[in-house]
Amino acid sequence: MLPSRRSFLRYLGLGSYATLVSSRPAVSADFPTRKRRAKPLEFFEPIKPSKADELILPKGFRSEIVISWDQPLGTKAPDGSAEKFGFNNDFIAYFPIDALKGGTNSKEGLLWVNHEYPNPLFQSGYTPADYKAGKKKTSEQIAAERLAVGGSVVHVKLDAEQKWKFVPNSPLNRRITATYPEIAFTGPAEKLLKTAVGSLANCSGGRTPWFTALSCEENYPDYNGYDPKDYFYRWSDDPKQAIDETRYGWVMEVDPFGELPPLKHTALGRFKHENAAVTRGAKGQLVVYMGDDEVDQHLYKFVSDIPDDPKASREQRRKCLQQGTLYAADLAKGRWIPLVFTPQTAKIIQESSAYAAAKKLDEKFQITNQAELLIHTRVAARALGATPLDRCEDCEVHPRDGSVYVAMTNNSRHGNLYGHIVRLVEDHDDAAAESFQYEVYLAGGPQSGLACPDNLAFDQQGNLWVVCDISTEKMGRGAYKPFGNNGLFVVPTMGDSAGDAFQFASGPVECELTGPWFTEDGKTLFLSVQHPGELSPALDQLTSHWPNGGMDVPRPSVVAIRGFA
Ligand code: FEO
Ligand code: CA
Ligand code: CA
Ligand code: CA
Repeated sequence: MLPSRRSFLRYLGLGSYATLVSSRPAVSADFPTRKRRAKPLEFFEPIKPSKADELILPKGFRSEIVISWDQPLGTKAPDGSAEKFGFNNDFIAYFPIDALKGGTNSKEGLLWVNHEYPNPLFQSGYTPADYKAGKKKTSEQIAAERLAVGGSVVHVKLDAEQKWKFVPNSPLNRRITATYPEIAFTGPAEKLLKTAVGSLANCSGGRTPWFTALSCEENYPDYNGYDPKDYFYRWSDDPKQAIDETRYGWVMEVDPFGELPPLKHTALGRFKHENAAVTRGAKGQLVVYMGDDEVDQHLYKFVSDIPDDPKASREQRRKCLQQGTLYAADLAKGRWIPLVFTPQTAKIIQESSAYAAAKKLDEKFQITNQAELLIHTRVAARALGATPLDRCEDCEVHPRDGSVYVAMTNNSRHGNLYGHIVRLVEDHDDAAAESFQYEVYLAGGPQSGLACPDNLAFDQQGNLWVVCDISTEKMGRGAYKPFGNNGLFVVPTMGDSAGDAFQFASGPVECELTGPWFTEDGKTLFLSVQHPGELSPALDQLTSHWPNGGMDVPRPSVVAIRGFA
C-alpha cells in the first residue's frame, strides 16, 4: 500500500511539508538549468545576451559600417533620379571582383544585398497611428516605399587601413526596386506571365556557381490591401501602383556584374520564398534547396534537367534554372515528392481540400497545367503529401559532407516557440536523390541558448553560423526573456562541441541580424543589421538610434566583421 502524503512525511521524520521544502539543498532553478557539453571554442570567447542599442562582438573582433539605408550610390536610375541604398537589408552575397576570370579576390568585390520590406514611418512618414486610424496612403508615399525594396549591387574594397569601404560612383553600383521596368520570366509559366514590374519582399537568397545572385521574394501578400487587425503596406490605395501578386513570390536571378538581364525563374515555384541554397547532384545537375516561411508550409528542392557545365558560357549555364523538377519534402516517408502535372496528380490535386479551399477564396482559381501548378505551388505540394513544417527559413549545404541544414524558426500554432534546426542526409549522398533521412540537429530554447533560428552560413571550418529572428513584439518577454536582443551564434558541426551554440554577436534594439556571408578567404564576415528601432511609433519617439547615435533615425546597414585569423 502506498503511504498517504502525511504518513510519508512522518516516515521521513520531517513532520511538515514546509520543513521538507526548506531542507532542500540550495540549487538555483534559474535558466539555463542543463549543463551544456560545450568545450570553449578556440577562436572566440562567447558574449552574453544583451539589450544594448549596439552591435556587440567578442574580444578581438571589430566591425565597420559598409553602407547604410538612404546612402546615395552615385548612380542614376532609368528615370534620371539618384539611386540610393534601400531599406531593411537582408541577404548578402559577396562576388570577388575577378570572379568571372576565376579569381577569388577577397579584398575587392561586389555585394548583392536584398532589401526586404519598407518601414513606412522612415520612407514615407506614414505612422503606425495613421495606419490605426485607417488613413489612406498618397501616391507619393507609395512611390517612396517602392524604391526602398528590391536589392542593391554595391562595389566594396578593403582600404590600406584594412577597413571595408563602399566605392561611390562605381559604374557597377546599381539598384533593382519595385519599379524596375521589365523583368522577364523563364520556365513553364513564362508564356502566362511574360514580365514583372520590379521585385519586392527580397528576403534571403543564394549564389550560383556562375556568379549570379538568387534573390527570394518572400512576403509579397503584405503589399496590397488594408486590414485593421493586420499590417499591410496599402499600395493598392493607388490602383496604378497596386501589385499583381502572380508576378511576385518567385526566385529572381540577378547578375551583379551587369552582363546578363535579371530573370524570374518559374521552374522554382511560387510561394513565400525564403532562400535558395545551391549545390550539385551526382550527375552534375544543379540542385537548389528552398524554404517556404509560413507556419505549416513546406521545404522544396529543384533539380535541373541538364547538368551545369562549368565550361559553358554564363548565359548557357543559367538555363539550368529554366527546366527541371520541383520537389516538396515528405519528412514522414523521407521522400521528395515531384510536383509534376500528370493525369494522376491532376486528379489528386483537383480533389484535395487544399484545392477546394483555394477555389473558395477565388472562383477563378484552377490548376490545369504545369504553369498553373507552379503559380500555385503550395496547393499542389499540400495535396500531394508534403509535410507541414514550422516556418522553413534558410537552408545551407555543409561544405564537407553535403548534408543539408534547415532552420525552422518556430510555430506557435502547436507550441514550438523556440524553433529548431533540422539536418537532412540525402540517400547515396546525392543531392538529386528522391529519398533522404533527417534528424533534429539543434532545438532552440534556454537550454541551447538560441531561439528562432533564421539565416545560416558555413565557414571554411564547417562551423554553422546562425542568426536569430525572435519577433520584435515578443523580444525579451515571456518565453523569450532569457535571450536579449537578436544575436548571431556559432555552432560547430565537428569535435567535442558539435551541436552546441556559442553567441558571437548581439544586435541593436529591435533589430534582426541577417544575411551572414564570408569572403572567399574567410577573413571577413559581411552581416546585415535589419530593422533596428522597428517599433518606433513616431520620428520623435525613436526606440533605436543605431548606428549613428544622438537623435538620428535608426539605419539598417551592412557591416563588415574582421578579426578572423
Ligand atoms: Fe524574411 Fe523568413 O524571413
Ligand atoms: Ca529570414
Ligand atoms: Ca544562408
Ligand atoms: Ca524571419
